Amino acid sequence: MAQLAPEQLTQLAAQFGTPLYVYHADKIREQYKQLTTAFNGSNVVFFYACKALTNIHILRFVRDLGANVDCSSINEVKLALHAGFPAQRVLYTSNGISFDEIEEAVSLGVNINIDSLSNLAKFGKRFGHNYPVGLRLRPNIMAGGNLKISTGHDKSKFGIPVEQLEELLALIREHNLHITNLHIHTGSEIKDVEVFVKGIGVLFDILHHFPELRSIDLGGGFKVPYKEGDGATDIPLLAQKVKEAFGAHPVAQALQIWFEPGKFIVSECGYFITSVNVIKETAAAIFVSVNSGFNHLIRPMFYDSFHRIINISNPQGPAKNYAVVGNICETDTFAWDRELPEVREGDLLVFLNAGAYGFEMSSSFNSRYKPAEVMVNGDEVKLIRERSNFEDLLRGQVPLAP
Ligand code: LLP
Repeated sequence: MAQLAPEQLTQLAAQFGTPLYVYHADKIREQYKQLTTAFNGSNVVFFYACKALTNIHILRFVRDLGANVDCSSINEVKLALHAGFPAQRVLYTSNGISFDEIEEAVSLGVNINIDSLSNLAKFGKRFGHNYPVGLRLRPNIMAGGNLKISTGHDKSKFGIPVEQLEELLALIREHNLHITNLHIHTGSEIKDVEVFVKGIGVLFDILHHFPELRSIDLGGGFKVPYKEGDGATDIPLLAQKVKEAFGAHPVAQALQIWFEPGKFIVSECGYFITSVNVIKETAAAIFVSVNSGFNHLIRPMFYDSFHRIINISNPQGPAKNYAVVGNICETDTFAWDRELPEVREGDLLVFLNAGAYGFEMSSSFNSRYKPAEVMVNGDEVKLIRERSNFEDLLRGQVPLAP
């Protein structure tokens, strides 16, 4: 398993300073390989859901691995094109966006999944049968690690609810729409393979209404382990179930199968290195304050997510329990009551699984700088984003009158 050694992380912290995001490209390659190996022999294409991590060096790396890319905004589309993806390898799965963005996506020639009857009607009026398009459907399936990251259930804003099929078909007829893809994405951190099987069932039930289909897009959401002993999506089992289902269907067997993994590709490649500023002993806990906060890694505060933390400066220290917190001006807890080898001021604490939705969801709240990003590929170490600075905080603000 591709992994960076503590000594190397220590060295990178010394070289680039902290807080620092480090991405291990070898791990990305390994994850992608797992997918292509499991699905070998099927007509499957993986679109990397780049919302997880959009650094253009990561995008370029993923492109060179052979993956396509899935985008969640027109700017992600532009970043993907900038990184060198040809338009036909770019997918824009939209959600509640303005029609202007859809028109722009068409002008860029990328694949589009439309998620509302309203935008589909506008699309039909403007493009009719001329531009092939996909439909983002809501399958009414509850799945995912927590409600905030569940997207396919019957109270979710995402997609065209499948129960609106009649209206949808009427629109397609009215505008002679050219529907080539059906898409669902039920959530993130889906461990249970049966969720995908259920989703396939929902799509297979309506397939015959879409004679021009070329692909079925089952979205992303493969689970990776965050905790010790945490399970993950069984990718070989998923591949087997998908192959069985598609192989047994007279129409679907000719279709291409698309997936949009984000976390699976980049979560485990990421290490977030912080330094301990202050240790504060109190009756409630020993607080370890690091030089970061939810401004840099929001997942623990936003989703109650668990990230393993390692003390790479004192691995042999006696175990103690700590509250690991940030330096932001409100409750900012990374981990409560976490056992770690004794932590001292100046020690380096590293958060694992920091590649997906880490830097990407960071902000400069409290006017703190955003971390630098470094990519390690074999023996090559490359700074891929500079730490932000004071000029960045001022950028875009209208200068004060003298
Ligand atoms: N496709 C679509 C249409 C999506 O909305 C998403 C994620 C993905 C693919 C990729 O899902 P993944 O394979 O990464 O689970 N910020 C949250 C995750 C939000 C995911 C939103 N959509 C987190 O940090 O857990």
